[in-house]
Amino acid sequence: MSNTSLRGRDFITWLEFTRDEMDAMLDCAHDLKRKQIRREPHKLLDGLTLHMLFYNTSLRTRNSFETAMTQLGGHAHFLQPGAVYTPALKGEEKAYSTERISDVARVLAEMGDGIAIRIYGKYTDWKYGKGNRIIREFADWSRVPVINMEDDMYHPCQDLADVMTMQEKLGHNLQGKKFVMSWAYSGSVEKPLAVPQSAIVAASMMGMEVTLAHPKGLDLDPKILAASKDLAKRHGGKFRVIYDMEEAFKGADAVYPKAWTVQPTDGKTPMDPEKAKVVFEANKGWITTKEKMALTNNAIYMHCLPADRDMEVTDEVIDGPSSVIVEEAANRLHGQKGMLALLLG
Ligand code: CP
Repeated sequence: MSNTSLRGRDFITWLEFTRDEMDAMLDCAHDLKRKQIRREPHKLLDGLTLHMLFYNTSLRTRNSFETAMTQLGGHAHFLQPGAVYTPALKGEEKAYSTERISDVARVLAEMGDGIAIRIYGKYTDWKYGKGNRIIREFADWSRVPVINMEDDMYHPCQDLADVMTMQEKLGHNLQGKKFVMSWAYSGSVEKPLAVPQSAIVAASMMGMEVTLAHPKGLDLDPKILAASKDLAKRHGGKFRVIYDMEEAFKGADAVYPKAWTVQPTDGKTPMDPEKAKVVFEANKGWITTKEKMALTNNAIYMHCLPADRDMEVTDEVIDGPSSVIVEEAANRLHGQKGMLALLLG
C-alpha cells in the first residue's frame, strides 16, 4: 500500500500529480472499497488525526472524510471558522475574531497529521483564486499534508469519486470514452467553478474524449482549459468546447450537467450576481431531460450534489436508471480513503 512519491504531499489539484500517481490513489481506493465491503480490517492510519476546516457547508465531504478516517483507524476533527478564530491571510486579520494562517497551520500541524480545508464563495469575496491562495498559504506553513476539500478553482476529492464511478460503470480503462461536462440552469448563481474545472482536468488525464458545453458568457479559466487540452492530447484523448447542450449529449458515455457562475478569472473582479442572473435566466433551457438523455450512448447521469431539481435536471432523470448520483456520492468515501492512506500513511 505504500507509495513513497505520495507520502507527505499536499492534495490541491490533480494538475500537480502525474497520471501514475493518480492511478496509484485510484487503485488504492478500489482496493480499500473491496476490503470495506468484505469487512477486512485496514487501519492504515491508526491513531492519526485529520483536522477539517469548513468555511462552507457540506453534507458529503464532511461525512465522507469523517467516515474515511474512522475506517482507517484515525480520527477526523471538525473545525468551523467562528467556532475557532477564523484563519486569515496576512493583512486581513481583525483583532479578537481572526488568527493569521501561518500560526493556525503550524499549530494544527503539531496536533495532527493532515489539514483539510473547504473555502469558496462569500468567504473569498467571490474573487476567483482567493480560496486556492488561502489553501496554498496553509500548505506553505504546514509540515503535514494540506488537502483541498473544494476551493474556488478545484474539487480534487470529488474527481476521485467521479473517476472511480466511471471506472465501475464504463470499464476501468476510460481512454476514448465520451465525457460531457455541461453547464445547467439553476435558480442560484452562487456556484463556483471548482467542480467543472476539476472534472475536465481529471477526465482529460484519464484520456477521455472530453466535451465542455455551456452557453456563451460562462467560460471557465482559460489556463485550466489549456491544461485540459494538453492532458487529453498527452493521454490519448480529445478536448473540445461547444455551446449547444443537445449537440454535446450526442453519443456521450457519461454526462455531468451542473450550474456554475459567471466568474471573472482575473482574480480581481468579483462575481456580479446581477450580471450572472441575466445570463442564467436567458438559458433556462439547459436542463437535463429524458429527451436529452436519449441522444446519448445510454450515458450515465452524474452530479456531485446537491442538485437543483427541476432546474438543472428533471426528477425523472436524476431518479431514473441512468443516474449514478448515489454511487458517486458513496465513492467520495472510498476515493478519499485511497488518497488519505497514501498521503498520510
Ligand atoms: N459534492 C460535494 O462536495 O458535496 P457537499 O457540498 O455536500 O460536501
